[in-house]
Amino acid sequence: MSDLHLLKERIARRDYTVGVVGLGYVGLPLVLRFGEVGFQVLGFDVDPAKVKQLNDGVSYIEHVPPDRISKLIAARRFEAPLVDRLRELKRPRLLFGTAARRRK
Ligand SMILES: NC(=O)c1ccc[n+]([C@@H]2O[C@H](COP(=O)([O-])OP(=O)(O)OC[C@H]3O[C@@H](n4cnc5c(N)ncnc54)[C@H](O)[C@@H]3O)[C@@H](O)[C@H]2O)c1
Repeated sequence: MSDLHLLKERIARRDYTVGVVGLGYVGLPLVLRFGEVGFQVLGFDVDPAKVKQLNDGVSYIEHVPPDRISKLIAARRFEAPLVDRLRELKRPRLLFGTAARRRK
């Protein structure tokens, strides 16, 4: 089986854990969408306040309604760890980085 075929088959079976690093305007909607279409998702951020809010089902982004977060938490499909737990993302996995690099 080719790598591409395997990738497509695993995506179709939702046989990946999806990780998104950086849960801002790009990363939060991205990780929630992957969860809503059936993947197990982990959203990583460096900000402890954001991580706590998300794990409590609270949204800090205006156009992201909190029930999108709480539904995935209730389904045990979403968790928001601090980024130092990135190594816990189990295989097979798809990982997306959205964390903005600060400009000096
Ligand atoms: N928002 C947009 O419309 C847009 C459009 C085009 C490109 N981008 C680019 O996409 C990237 C993300 O943009 P955004 O609007 O989501 O930014 P944002 O500032 O809203 O979110 C970035 C998130 O990353 C987190 N973060 C920062 N450093 C981290 C690290 N080391 N590890 C884990 N998390 C970390 C921050 O706490 C924050 O939650 C940026 O590079 C931006 O330039 C954004």
